[in-house]
Amino acid sequence: MRSRRRTTGLAAATALAVVAVLAAGARPAGAQAPDAAPSAPRALYVDACASCHGADGRGNPRIDAPVLAGLSAAYLERQIDGFRRGYRGRHPADIEGREMRPMVEGFTDADLAAVGAWLASLPAPRPAADPAATGAEASRGDPARGQTLYAACAVCHGQSGEGNDALGAPRLAGQASWYTARQLRKFVDGVRGSHPDDTSGASMRASVADLASRDAADIVAWIETLPAN
Ligand code: HEC
Ligand code: HEC
Repeated sequence: MRSRRRTTGLAAATALAVVAVLAAGARPAGAQAPDAAPSAPRALYVDACASCHGADGRGNPRIDAPVLAGLSAAYLERQIDGFRRGYRGRHPADIEGREMRPMVEGFTDADLAAVGAWLASLPAPRPAADPAATGAEASRGDPARGQTLYAACAVCHGQSGEGNDALGAPRLAGQASWYTARQLRKFVDGVRGSHPDDTSGASMRASVADLASRDAADIVAWIETLPAN
């Protein structure tokens, strides 16, 4: 009898404690406060990203920042998430990725979606009209030879480099050539796409595992000729 009353008392105390916690507004870790102000996408971008990626998302070769305008929301959000969670931009040899990663470390899911949607609404730049985005590294290849080799890439990235969200493959047309060349090297060397959580990166990495550097330069020279729109 006595022990049963004690148990009942304990259960009641536990129930009271639960009520108190609920009343204090405790939420599961990681949940958004229901009254949190929605992120203002443009303001967030201007404050946190534009200094490197440019107000119009066209990048800046002097600080290794790629073009973001023209990329799909799905791709952008996955990359930002990758930097945030650390499966991109953590490899010791990934100098530029390690520069980028801290910029989104504190991003909430709402920030991520807001900036992704904002960037995806910007028009893709035309490389020819944007010579500052084209590095010397790019133009050394042979575009005619690159066109033939690009057939292996078109399967995922599209005939005109327009990208394919269903396969996770980003738009390549309109991107700065110095950046494209550098990312190819990173995939070949395993500096990008080798983290166990990076499944999309792994599929890209497998596609270029034995790409010779001369072939890469020719392919980049071909991609450079693709119209951005
Ligand atoms: C200090 C400069 C700097 C700032 C500020 C910065 N970035 Fe970056 N970002 C970079 C660099 C450098 C890279 C290239 C990383 C690489 O080479 O892998 C990059 C790459 C990216 C990529 C990958 C693009 C692709 O094609 O895969 C995304 C997406 C991105 N940044 C989004 C953002 C967002 C969103 C912000 C603002 C919250 C931001 N960046 C702020 C320097 C910066
Ligand atoms: C099996 C499909 C597939 C094939 C084939 C493929 N890619 Fe990719 N590629 C991807 C995926 C998926 C990603 C995105 C990886 C990620 O999420 O980080 C990607 C990313 C890239 C990027 C990074 C772009 C950026 O904005 O950072 C470049 C550059 C690239 N691919 C070039 C190529 C080239 C050149 C070829 C041919 C030699 C090629 N890819 C073949 C699927 C593929």
